[in-house]
Amino acid sequence: MEKTRWYKDMVFYQIWPRSFKDGNGDGMGDLWGVYEKLDYLKELGIDGIWFSPIYPSPGADCGYDISDYMDIAPEFGGMEAFRKVLDGVHRRGMKLIMDLVVNHTSDEHEWFQKSRQRIDPYTDYYIWRPAKADGSLPNNWDSNFEGKAWTYDEVRGEYYLHLFAVKQPDLNMDNPLVREEVKKILRFWLDMGVDGFREDVITYISKKEGLPDDHLFPIYKGMPNYNHGPHIHEYLAEFKRDVLDHYDCMTLAEAPLVSPKLALRYIDEETGQMDMMIQFQCQCADCLFTDYLPTPFFLPRLKRAFTSWQQGLEGRAWNMLYLENHDHPRIVTRYGSEEFWSESAKMLAVSYLFQKGTPFVYQGQELGMTNWRPERADMYRDVQTLWQYTHSALNKTEEQRLKRLWRSSRDGARSPVQWSSEENAGFTTGEPWMAVNPNYKRINAADQEKDPASVLNFYRRAIALRKRLSAVRHGDYREYFPLSPDVYVYAREDERQKLLVICSFAKKTLALPVPEGFDIDSGRLVLLNYPKAKKHFLQPYEARVYLWEK
Ligand code: GLC
Ligand code: CA
Repeated sequence: MEKTRWYKDMVFYQIWPRSFKDGNGDGMGDLWGVYEKLDYLKELGIDGIWFSPIYPSPGADCGYDISDYMDIAPEFGGMEAFRKVLDGVHRRGMKLIMDLVVNHTSDEHEWFQKSRQRIDPYTDYYIWRPAKADGSLPNNWDSNFEGKAWTYDEVRGEYYLHLFAVKQPDLNMDNPLVREEVKKILRFWLDMGVDGFREDVITYISKKEGLPDDHLFPIYKGMPNYNHGPHIHEYLAEFKRDVLDHYDCMTLAEAPLVSPKLALRYIDEETGQMDMMIQFQCQCADCLFTDYLPTPFFLPRLKRAFTSWQQGLEGRAWNMLYLENHDHPRIVTRYGSEEFWSESAKMLAVSYLFQKGTPFVYQGQELGMTNWRPERADMYRDVQTLWQYTHSALNKTEEQRLKRLWRSSRDGARSPVQWSSEENAGFTTGEPWMAVNPNYKRINAADQEKDPASVLNFYRRAIALRKRLSAVRHGDYREYFPLSPDVYVYAREDERQKLLVICSFAKKTLALPVPEGFDIDSGRLVLLNYPKAKKHFLQPYEARVYLWEK
């Protein structure tokens, strides 16, 4: 089947379903709620939706612990609501991709229940090991969420590997039967009409033979022995050859610790096995690898991440562009400024929407939602956050510990979408499963709908503009002033147009940075996040886009 690579002209939206919109009043987001909002997404200029997991799940990791891959959880509306949403999406000319989480399952999945009892063919579906001769754990690996990566199972009398939560046992992808299961899942959804997959931590699925101890990494011990493992490309090629090649679908690989060069092994359009990649470097301008190791925000790091991916994939692979998702605190609070809230939210939109690639907008980002800061630790829901709270920084005061979570927790971006100034931000008529951000009276979709200068309307304009400009979709990318700690300036150019994008990340007024060779006065200012531009100055967090038609 010919691949048309339809995703290249699109803008995607990520729905994290629990907190998107509650349709039945039980306090949790669901597909009925999504159905109500399809026109809202269409009006935003969205062409495709990525659903974080909506399968049956005990919810240990908010759905990333799946107990049945071929069904939709009843609390989200079951298969009936899903088919209705899928149909509604397609009728509006949009696409829909699912989250494929096959590094691990839930421990409540039937496969695991049988595997722990050694019932064939499931006996070797997971990674089981006895203790070492001295009684210690099978190796020294850490889990990403909850302490060590091994948990003892009484039923089987062995340890199982879990790179994430205790309730997320890793599948044994070296077992061909497990790979057949993955293919079955892919076919099941593609045959139903789903347009592709975002593949969760897919670079983790092949572990180094013998599962050796890791003597390299001080934290996240083990990662060099399972990230980009020995058989990864072989397994992905198998999924492609046996299933994905037979559908005009798109795949998006989530890949922690990856460089553009390494990415090409996965997504080179000639030789790769997948289409696009979610890299983490654009999330590391204010931390070292994880949000739990914060550093002050440093713009050159962000620009290096942007530019190295723009240049590194040029002509060979296609970028996925994003600033937010459900795994990191909100971007306005981190890279922008709550003081210059509206200006910086809009500037951040400009900073990435005019790059080359397929942009993704995370729910609430288009409203400039800020980081959620609960006043008590027990208001958090995320398994990683709760573990961090109970196991680290114990010598600090409660206030310091809360501050650490505010800065680092994934829940910062998971509070319910703020639809209106009504009770519970219009998210639910019931008791919300997670508290809403109290600033919803000030930041919400209904009010922004009415205000032409709102963040929401700015996103609409920026997305519409991106789609009109051929230079944004296909043009070259060039960055200026890469070392400046205050401004991000880049140009895009094709045979017909030239664009100049200027973004200030500063709280102070700056001299307007104009790269050599650009005559600003002859360009048309096609996007601005202030009522008026000053001739020689950039206002705090100002963003401008200039256009020259050739
Ligand atoms: C990915 C998901 C994250 C999840 C983890 C384990 O990083 O984005 O939300 O917790 O994988 O599935
Ligand atoms: Ca509900």
